[in-house]
Amino acid sequence: MNTWFAPGRANLMGEHTDYNGGMVLPFALAQGVTATVAGRADGLLVMRSKQMTGNPVVVDVTRLSPGSVRGWAAYPAGVAWALTAAGYPAGGADIDIDSDLPVGAGVSSSAAVECSVALALCELSGFALERRELAAIARRAENDFVGAPTGMIDQYAALLCQAGHAMLLDCGTQRIRQVPFDPVRAGLVALVIDTRVTHALVNGEYAARRAECEEAARHLGVPSLGALVTAVAATASESESFGQAVERALSRLADPVLRRRARHVICDSWRARQIADALDAAAEPGTFERIGQLLTEGHASLRDDFEVSWAEADVTVATARAAGALGAKMVGGGFGGSVLALVPAERLAKVRAAVAEELAGRSMEAPGFLEAVPAPAARRLA
Ligand code: GLA
Repeated sequence: MNTWFAPGRANLMGEHTDYNGGMVLPFALAQGVTATVAGRADGLLVMRSKQMTGNPVVVDVTRLSPGSVRGWAAYPAGVAWALTAAGYPAGGADIDIDSDLPVGAGVSSSAAVECSVALALCELSGFALERRELAAIARRAENDFVGAPTGMIDQYAALLCQAGHAMLLDCGTQRIRQVPFDPVRAGLVALVIDTRVTHALVNGEYAARRAECEEAARHLGVPSLGALVTAVAATASESESFGQAVERALSRLADPVLRRRARHVICDSWRARQIADALDAAAEPGTFERIGQLLTEGHASLRDDFEVSWAEADVTVATARAAGALGAKMVGGGFGGSVLALVPAERLAKVRAAVAEELAGRSMEAPGFLEAVPAPAARRLA
């Protein structure tokens, strides 16, 4: 048996922008999922998970169809199905999953399962796929087999991020720019705060936001909201800020809800690009203060315009900032999961204590803390 690893991710900026053809800026975590896998001659997938109950789940790899496997095993089974559908027939395999990522915490544990298993099944069968193609196949497993209408960020992050970098991904063109991101070197901690409110992307809110964005794009006569980012930036002039240019571009949208959704997507994409540019020039004084400010603006946009935040996240962001974080935002799809805060190392203990105390005072769950270090992408371990 061999073992493959795929990381979870945090996202510095660009939430709900991926399925809109916008920009995202994730980095890979050191934590992730391992898949220990060996081929089987009998065509069965025998799937075990250390963290989940109901083990093992056994299915015939030739009889997989969307909806045929439920729960955690749908992710590895979905990868075998998606590989086969893409012309890379997966054989039977023993698949043992282990993870040190919190599930439902917005750090993409499902994509880490998919990508570790995808690498394993390809290598066992001798398929040498480009990582972008593999990311697309792993995403298909989630969209078409599991039935979660997610975008592309998670699988791209797991397979293509680099250590010491954040990855600016234009989801419209799939163009990637790796930008140096080394918080420790800058005297900072990228603190992931798990609010312990778990989310489930298969629920309706995510799909509802997606539909609203598509409707907004239709009204505006563009193929996707992401397509507007460059156009709006080009019209912003010295006398007009990006925000004002966005308002002008969206004035044709009569529905105030659709206008707010579109504003979030365009501005978050813009912020992702701004942060990437700032990281490229990180030596300039004030860079991380500016990045922190953008994080907090991103959170406000997710809370007020996109309406996917939750009470624990709002409290965490406000408290972390008040205790000295440079900025903070929720990460992932929302309605539960984690907050990412950028904290000067000397204020780390204070921020942690303040957040824990404030949540406890409101009878909210005790948070989990993870000091995130931008880590390498998925790979074989042994
Ligand atoms: C989830 C999805 C991603 C992305 C984020 C929000 O994590 O899996 O595709 O849409 O939500 O940015």
